[in-house]
Amino acid sequence: MVDQVVSEFSIPLDKLQEVETRLTGEFNKGLAREGDDVKVKMLVTYVHSLPDGSEEGDFLALDLGGSNFRVLLIKLRKGQLPEQTAEKFVIDDATKQSTGVVLFDFIAKCVAEFVKKQNITTKLPLGFTFSFPVKQLSLTSGTLIRWTKDFTATGVVGENVVQLLKEAFVRRGDIDVDVVALVNDTTGTQLAVGYLDNNCLIGLILGTGTNACYMEQLSAVGKYTGDKNKYSQVIINCEWGAFGDDGSIDPWLTTYDKALDELVQNKKQQLYEKMISGKYLGEIVRQALLSLIKNGVLFGGKSSEKFSKFEGFETQYVSMIEAGDVANCKKIFKDVFSIEASDEDCQSVKRVCAAVSTRAARLAGAGVVALVKKINKLGGCTVAVDGSLYKMHPTFRQNMDDAMNELAPGNKITMKLSEDGSGRGAAIVAAVACRLTKTE
Ligand code: BGC
Repeated sequence: MVDQVVSEFSIPLDKLQEVETRLTGEFNKGLAREGDDVKVKMLVTYVHSLPDGSEEGDFLALDLGGSNFRVLLIKLRKGQLPEQTAEKFVIDDATKQSTGVVLFDFIAKCVAEFVKKQNITTKLPLGFTFSFPVKQLSLTSGTLIRWTKDFTATGVVGENVVQLLKEAFVRRGDIDVDVVALVNDTTGTQLAVGYLDNNCLIGLILGTGTNACYMEQLSAVGKYTGDKNKYSQVIINCEWGAFGDDGSIDPWLTTYDKALDELVQNKKQQLYEKMISGKYLGEIVRQALLSLIKNGVLFGGKSSEKFSKFEGFETQYVSMIEAGDVANCKKIFKDVFSIEASDEDCQSVKRVCAAVSTRAARLAGAGVVALVKKINKLGGCTVAVDGSLYKMHPTFRQNMDDAMNELAPGNKITMKLSEDGSGRGAAIVAAVACRLTKTE
């Protein structure tokens, strides 16, 4: 039975090639046009160049979309590594799932606290990293297409999120900033690495959610309506998490993926993301383990109250169990879930964890290869990566590299970790925007 569950998650090379091919098809469709049937949106970011390292000044950055909300003060000095001070604020489910006014008031309150604590007295330019699908209208405005992960705040979909942020600042009356850039976390990550590496052509997030962006030639963006003579390229936010929303990856979903989908807010949406990212991997493992328990092959057929709860088994335990030995695994089950696991139970649990995380890493690898082939850079390019899953999981990177080497033998793709890149990148975009405004 354990063998069978593990085999359901396996993605051999031929299947992986199929994922890559279908995803490439979706990328092309999204670049060509808009429409409800276009699931992978390939959103235009209005970021037309990488920074050139000459950006300078003090900037504020806000980072919303992961497990915490962060406010950062970033000092950019020519030729030096950016200096940053950051503060994390826990954003609870009630806030994520209330109304736009409550959510943006919370953000404004955190900014006010930060500004006071850091003793900031001048009006600073601000970059807003908002990690959800946004149809940008310019570098400083964009409407939310839909919420992802577990955000559901009402009154935000279809609205300009920069406007909502500004209104919250006005309601308080004690924040004096200038919002000069709205970016996705993938773009922020790409730019944070691109500040020092001008061959950084892709930004990738493997955290609570997953997504990628890349630098594309404007001539390849059929749907671009702006002036194609002014710039030659633009960063595209793929929003690849939505791959499969039209049912195109249904044949690869296991019963455990389907069980998860029944329990989440955004059913039938973000299916590729649900197979890959940290918000979901623990729950997929839990679903698979529950089925083993039900069949009497795990924990003597008994679950516990904690383990029976939706999302009770977090992705951090997947990482910890894969990194540790049987004794660690037993301890986690005893301390966290009040379950006495045997040696054999722990071996089975570890195999299921590895099957689920390896599938995720291989799928993410297929996505990166699809993008790198698209821009014809198998011969060498840098991919900036950020996100807790990539950083914390013991074998995710290796499994992803293996998949990329299977799909593109001899490739020269360099993955570069961009610690806190999403926020820092927002400040860099803000800096570029300020530089351009001055020179225009
Ligand atoms: C969002 C993306 C974001 C990704 C990683 C997804 O759920 O739709 O905009 O880049 O999560 O945070």
